[in-house]
Amino acid sequence: MRHRLTAIAGLSCVLLSACTEGQIGHSDAVRAGQRIYAKECAACHGAHGEGAGSAALALGTIPPDLTGLKQRNDGYFPREFVRRFIMGRLEKDDPASPMPDFSTVGLRHVYPDGGADGEVLETDFANLLDYLEAIQE
Ligand code: HEC
Repeated sequence: MRHRLTAIAGLSCVLLSACTEGQIGHSDAVRAGQRIYAKECAACHGAHGEGAGSAALALGTIPPDLTGLKQRNDGYFPREFVRRFIMGRLEKDDPASPMPDFSTVGLRHVYPDGGADGEVLETDFANLLDYLEAIQE
């Protein structure tokens, strides 16, 4: 058991050092984006984007795992797709799904740079996208 734990710890160090440049925990933008994610998205998409957070239990459509966006898109993070999806500019697979249209509600819970209900500040939005890109597997 002890050996296995050591092996796992060693492996995660290798994985971490492979992504030190501008990745999770190393960029202010990503950290700011993470705060927005935690307030706006985590209830449905899970604390770390893994899908199906607590609010999902009451939803008909299960919120997808957001850490696999890149993998599901041939190894390329679909930043433009994600931007449009969040802003309600794309057809949903299920029109009745509970994913909010953030161009209407705004990123209303957190405004690191100020702002009002129904408003989406470009910097905050860019930070959110940076965070999502950083959590891709
Ligand atoms: C009320 C629950 C809820 C909240 C809050 C929510 N989502 Fe979603 N989201 C969903 C559901 C359900 C789906 C899948 C169904 C659909 O709408 O097509 C989805 C789909 C998505 C997709 C498409 C994924 C794919 O593989 O097609 C993205 C990207 C996404 N959400 C990002 C976000 C982000 C970023 C936030 C926060 C700004 C957020 N969502 C907040 C419920 C939610």
